[in-house]
Amino acid sequence: MSNTNSLFKPFTLGPLTLPNRVVMAPMTRSMSPGNVPNDQVVEYYRRRAAGGVGLIITEGTCIGHKAASGYADVPFIAGEEPLAGWKKVVDAVHAEGGKIAPQLWHVGAIRKPGVEPGGDTPGFGPSGMAMPGKVTGHEMTQADIDEVVAAFAQAAKDAQAIGFDAVEIHAAHGYLVDQFFWEGTNHREDGYGGDLAARSRFAIEIIRAIRTAVGPDFPIILRWSQWKQQDYTARLATTPEALEAFLKPLSDAGVDIFHCSTRRFWEPEFDGSDLNLAGWTRQLTGKPCITVGSVGLNAEFLPAPGDQGFRAAEPASLDNLIQRLDNDEFDLVAVGRALIANPEWANQIRSSQLEDLVAYDSAQLAKLV
Ligand code: FNR
Repeated sequence: MSNTNSLFKPFTLGPLTLPNRVVMAPMTRSMSPGNVPNDQVVEYYRRRAAGGVGLIITEGTCIGHKAASGYADVPFIAGEEPLAGWKKVVDAVHAEGGKIAPQLWHVGAIRKPGVEPGGDTPGFGPSGMAMPGKVTGHEMTQADIDEVVAAFAQAAKDAQAIGFDAVEIHAAHGYLVDQFFWEGTNHREDGYGGDLAARSRFAIEIIRAIRTAVGPDFPIILRWSQWKQQDYTARLATTPEALEAFLKPLSDAGVDIFHCSTRRFWEPEFDGSDLNLAGWTRQLTGKPCITVGSVGLNAEFLPAPGDQGFRAAEPASLDNLIQRLDNDEFDLVAVGRALIANPEWANQIRSSQLEDLVAYDSAQLAKLV
């Protein structure tokens, strides 16, 4: 395996200094009964900070809007108790020398009525659709849009007040913000729909409102993806030109770091270049970018259970990742499932203790460890 030193170089952006380039990817754990992060959640994140992660991005945490949540036992980032719970998480991570940002989440039309505390509230979306062509929820009015934009800003302000180091807007994977981006789920004709620029207006309003709420220096991360949970093949931009037209207004609105969600970091985004989605995003915006997707899952030192003799294809190797990092294709590397399996992943990679790494298995999601 190659020298991994470059993963462990510090990173600075304005007031944010990270000890290294390893980011914990946001992962919903549904372990917050009553929507309050409890002491087990505190310990779960503390352990990753102690394990050497430079920046933790929390699981999606719902902003203060009646239709923000779509799942039981996910944490909120609104109200006294959830915020007090998050403050304990933040303090524990800081005590270990780590940094942490909440992922601000509104599920949009994916919500099914019945999830508490929203009760019968339907899913809210640009056109009431979680899936292209299937209206099952409520088409947001201008008043709804204004309310949700304000709720994102309030969540960011509260996050800053309790000591978080940055915020991440969840604009990926087919949830609310992405439902506005995606032509399949956004059929509006009122200035929030139309071409990709118009479909970005909702996100731009959120970014600007957050910027106003948190001031000029507090880092805003935007997570976005081409793929949607509803359709892995969906794409917002199929050419570099379209990608630039999409990203530039978001960048100008105040995004500090783009978190480019892909399922495999080594996959080229467009024909004719090896650059992945983060690589293109960095090149087109000049902003720091986070890459993600199967890091540490399939390299030769971490075979999946049952995959006897499995060897990663060369592109999936940690060597390839490090080479891309060294080439400045991206700035930061998010790790998801390998960190569920190995809270100490960053320290283990740093000290080459690869023999102690545990393979990821979805059964590990049953408990917060
Ligand atoms: C996720 N992912 C995810 N993404 C996100 O933006 N918000 C979220 O709340 C979640 N929740 C979530 C839960 C679980 C159990 C998994 C495994 C994944 C996606 C995640 O952040 C990451 O992008 C992918 O897991 C790919 O990275 P790895 O796991 O291949 O390193």
